[in-house]
Amino acid sequence: MIEILFVDDQPEQLAELEKSLRRFRNEWSMEFAGSGQEALRRLANRQFDVVVTDLNMPEMPGGELLRQVQERWPQTVRILFSGRGECQEAMQSTTSAHQHLAKPCDPDLLEMTISDTFSLRYHLENDAIRDLVGRLGQLPTLPDVYTELMHELEAPNSSVARVGDIIRGDVSISAKILQLVNSSYFGLPVHVTDVSHAVALLGLNVVKPLVLSSGLFHQFAPGSLGEFSLSYLVDHSTEVALAARCVTQLEGAAPEDCDHAFMAGMLHDLGQLVLAKNFSAQYDQMRAVARDSDTPLHELETAEFEANHADLGAYLLGLWGLPAPIVEAIVWHHAPFQSTHDRFTPLAAVHAAESLLARRTNATGENSEISHEFLARIGRTDRVSVWSVALGGEPQVA
Ligand SMILES: [Fe+2]
Ligand SMILES: [Fe+2]
Repeated sequence: MIEILFVDDQPEQLAELEKSLRRFRNEWSMEFAGSGQEALRRLANRQFDVVVTDLNMPEMPGGELLRQVQERWPQTVRILFSGRGECQEAMQSTTSAHQHLAKPCDPDLLEMTISDTFSLRYHLENDAIRDLVGRLGQLPTLPDVYTELMHELEAPNSSVARVGDIIRGDVSISAKILQLVNSSYFGLPVHVTDVSHAVALLGLNVVKPLVLSSGLFHQFAPGSLGEFSLSYLVDHSTEVALAARCVTQLEGAAPEDCDHAFMAGMLHDLGQLVLAKNFSAQYDQMRAVARDSDTPLHELETAEFEANHADLGAYLLGLWGLPAPIVEAIVWHHAPFQSTHDRFTPLAAVHAAESLLARRTNATGENSEISHEFLARIGRTDRVSVWSVALGGEPQVA
């Protein structure tokens, strides 16, 4: 049984929540706390799998409670609720939550969110992935500039000028970002020479993933990756990120889903880079076999390492506390049917984007077939053609 602690400082709302969740009492053991302090006392006394808290609590805001939970009980799944429109920015920049949900609580959405999160954990907490990570001598670390950026965004008086200063502080990352935003992918009408200008034109929700991906990708010096091309990875990731965001927008999804789809697209093949760095000759050979035999690369990886680049990338991003929808999109980008998702999510966007681009350009070497089984499950079979045309391809026959 999953042990869940709910926290809200408004007694009527807490009572309402308790009533609406009564039907889950056979699968969840639930406790309800009336303040952040009370929640911390209960957490100290017994283990909870999930903490679900309201954001807006004057005495101890939900973001602060989750920060303490992350520090003291890092294994606990952390979910943050906020009223519609209320402190939207604060909610988006709170990094301690695995998931953000809007109030009033939709019990079915909460149930789906918790079951998705647990299936992700079950998948990532297996020994094969941990063994593979244990064998890797060189692992990327979360870039300092990204951590600093997230801290600035969480600060009550965060400023755009300071955001620009932070990114500019890392000269090589700023240079990579400027190179990318001036590429044809972003189609900007002017040449951008400063990161603050890039933020003003593209928005922080685009620049933030570029900071993280550049900071991660460029920890691997060129020349030590065998035949693996870092510049190809940057191009492929950018294409998938833009296409995944486009598909998400076409589905009329929330802005947060569009941002998650973009971030997941930028990072979906991070695991490939880690494998190229650690097993360069062996990985070159594996990619050659994938190309020559038309076998999906991730299948060859799993046969060799018992885990693949999707597992590896998702594992690292999960460790660094990136939001669960991003981690889910990465771990199942080649096999979305293995997830528990039964609705359109960033996972569907990244999977579809990559498959549709591969079908058109046939350049990824990843051999990504779109999963019709998954599209049928999420009720989007008839949307593939619309997505394909929007991405500049041909209409698709389902
Ligand atoms: Fe890919
Ligand atoms: Fe991939």
